Amino acid sequence: MSDTEISVEDIAAEPHRRMLEDCQLDGHVVEQERATAPIDQLDVPPAAMVVSTPDDAAAVLLDRDENYSVCGYNERGATAFGEIYLGLDAGDDYTRQSTAANAAISAISRKDAFELTLREARKVFADDPRATPDLVRVKVLAAICKEWFDLPDERNVITGPIRLSAERPVRCPGDYALPSNLIFLYEPREPTLSAAIGRELRAATKTAVAEYRESNTRPKGRLSRAIFDSFDTSEDDLLSRTIVGVMIGLLPTVSSNLQNTHKLWIANDNEIFRKLRAAIKEHSDTDTFARASDVLSIPMMHAMQRDPMPPEVWRTARKAHTIAGKEINPGDTVRVHIKAATNADLAAGKTDVFTVFGGDRSKTPHPTHACPGYEASMGIMLAYHFSLLEA
Ligand code: HEM
Repeated sequence: MSDTEISVEDIAAEPHRRMLEDCQLDGHVVEQERATAPIDQLDVPPAAMVVSTPDDAAAVLLDRDENYSVCGYNERGATAFGEIYLGLDAGDDYTRQSTAANAAISAISRKDAFELTLREARKVFADDPRATPDLVRVKVLAAICKEWFDLPDERNVITGPIRLSAERPVRCPGDYALPSNLIFLYEPREPTLSAAIGRELRAATKTAVAEYRESNTRPKGRLSRAIFDSFDTSEDDLLSRTIVGVMIGLLPTVSSNLQNTHKLWIANDNEIFRKLRAAIKEHSDTDTFARASDVLSIPMMHAMQRDPMPPEVWRTARKAHTIAGKEINPGDTVRVHIKAATNADLAAGKTDVFTVFGGDRSKTPHPTHACPGYEASMGIMLAYHFSLLEA
């Protein structure tokens, strides 16, 4: 696919479209609301460069010459849920804030995540055999977060889908979507509302953290506990922001990739879905993880390459340099068009989703910010799709 087939505007428009679709689930007549309210835009200068090839995307992400900064993420974050380590460049502060959290996330194996997700999805179907894929997705993502972060606690954070308002109690997974779009997309939609929801997420999480302090207890979830234990008791605001940041890392990315893949598989009267269901039934292995991995991994990766979330990430240049033949000056924005890069890989017959995760953290060297949640995500996504296919 050529670069011109996907415009920069498409990147920004995609998640917005998806959010509106999500909102319909919630019974909102969103289009009517929007008809009277102007679409809120962030006033950003045009990017100096959009890199679209797999090699250029990999070069910007790996950043061997330290040409780039992620400081723009924290400038955005500061208006919302606050600054977190995703918005810090490599250095002592980044290492101090990220090491324990990233180690705990990376320690979640694909199989652990698969088993947890499948158990929770089967519970949803046991309660309601006619549960829709959207309902399963919302309930399962909330249940995973309950297990790993002790949130939703159904007081400060409650289970619920996306909405276009900033209110307490905040909703998991729904309210994590707009703040994520504010960070990852250079031209986010609804920046004012996204920031307001981000502030509510921070306040709600701070209240949950304060409750632990008051009762002299610690969270039990493997991620909330690791993050809780990695900060000093005087740093509850940073601790709360970090929990919000890691949940934002998980929820909208996993959720949108699940939606996109499912949508592709049910197109043309369930064409791919039906084939995969038959392949799952015919597969001789009695181990569900082996069956799901064998049958679903490759089609799932192809679907993610086709329509990835996030469709882009972006950087601010800190040095004068050249990328893809273009001279870049300090302060310039460079957007990494993940969707164009993964579409090109797909067209060239390469099955690889690491670009969607900002690189492969298991490699040396790897991009500083490459996602620590790769294995966990693959396990969640395989199990979610398996649960719909076996239902
Ligand atoms: C399909 C699922 C996911 C996708 C596509 C994804 C994508 C990404 C991307 C692209 C980045 C790097 C951003 C950049 O370089 O600008 C990133 C970083 C990160 N992700 Fe994920 N992510 C996913 C799931 C998860 C999960 C499950 C978790 C946590 C349990 C998580 C936590 C994080 C964290 C903490 C970072 C920041 C790492 C650092 O700065 O050291 N992500 N993710």
